Amino acid sequence: MTTEYNQISRRSWIKLATLAAGGMALPWSSAGFAQVATIKKLITRSDSPFNAEPALDELVRDWITPFESFFVRSHGPVPDVRNADYRLKIEGLVEQPREYRLEELAAPTTKLPTLTTIATLTCSGNRRAEFAASHQQKIPGVGWDGGAIGNAEWSGVRLSDILKAAGVKPEAKHVWFEGLDPIDNKGTSQPFGGSIPLAHAMADSTTAPGAIICSRMNGQPLAAVHGAPLRAIVPGFIGARSVKWISRIIVSDQPSTNRFLAREYKLLREGTDDEITATPPVYEMALNSVIAVPQADGNRLKLRGFALPQGQLGRVIERVELTTDAGKTWTPAKIVSPVREFTWVLWTADLPKGMSPQTVAVRAVDNRGDSQPMTVPWNVKGYQYNGWHKVTVPNG
Ligand code: MTE
Repeated sequence: MTTEYNQISRRSWIKLATLAAGGMALPWSSAGFAQVATIKKLITRSDSPFNAEPALDELVRDWITPFESFFVRSHGPVPDVRNADYRLKIEGLVEQPREYRLEELAAPTTKLPTLTTIATLTCSGNRRAEFAASHQQKIPGVGWDGGAIGNAEWSGVRLSDILKAAGVKPEAKHVWFEGLDPIDNKGTSQPFGGSIPLAHAMADSTTAPGAIICSRMNGQPLAAVHGAPLRAIVPGFIGARSVKWISRIIVSDQPSTNRFLAREYKLLREGTDDEITATPPVYEMALNSVIAVPQADGNRLKLRGFALPQGQLGRVIERVELTTDAGKTWTPAKIVSPVREFTWVLWTADLPKGMSPQTVAVRAVDNRGDSQPMTVPWNVKGYQYNGWHKVTVPNG
């Protein structure tokens, strides 16, 4: 499996590299996005900015999502970054602010220890289309089905090593990230950004780093759409915290004032200014699961899907269950992939089929006994939807 997806990714990478001028990251405009859309096997949800997700059946072919099937979530254009000019600044509450060149942070030239970790990245707005339908309301934002999620091997250097080298001052509490993509907002422009608590940034465990500054995805250099030449990856946190095209790391005693931390990606009932100020940002991914392939086969229902643990150290998927009687009884699915913190599991199930079209729902249960709710209270931006995922399987 690994060899096959690596070969596919390598072919795509060569194709993408051929499109690049002089070895720099691709200066993709929206015309460039159209090229990405043809190389990747994705359904485009918006052209500009480019947002696209794979069909659900493509998504569950491999535990590690190949480049072609990895969703893209962008709030603005892909910046034109030349590797030779690229710099990453470390500033704020540190003893020694400094500026890194790309070769000082990326293998094989970096002197910092490098690592590869597997982590699932998901957009907090995944399943928004279903959330809107379940409440019969329109929700602004990308109308994701369930494919704004992917599991990859990320390689880079630990954020904690960079912070230790800079010497974090005692009053520091948050680490801000800033990208290079200018995002328009009512006539003004601000780079995409956000922050994570310092404690999370420093919480490297034996199974996962708190965060990495990543230069490779699935063994290949990061593609421009995924944040080349360097991006943050924060295992366990919603995708918005994994800032692409990262250019500044600012250590602070406050959370970031960037719009995407201070105003967006919050669970709001009304969205008034007072409510926005009083509501904390979303950090952790929510426990979730999706039926990706529902198939009627004779007198059996054959199902395949994924389940994601809540993004908290120590939480893993314990079981995945299916119901055909609206939750009166549950049948366990078979988990067919590794089970780890911060990564999804893939599962299969084989259930008896009734005579008429059947509605099947899935829910995941974690090792602390928490499970997904049947429905989720309304929030105006449609984030973190993790109600039972339901599909109606026609007679096969
Ligand atoms: N970083 C920058 N600079 N600009 C962005 O628009 N989108 C964020 C995050 N990092 C974004 C960003 C969101 S909301 C998600 S879900 C992930 O990137 C998506 O990463 P991907 O496009 O590599 O799948």
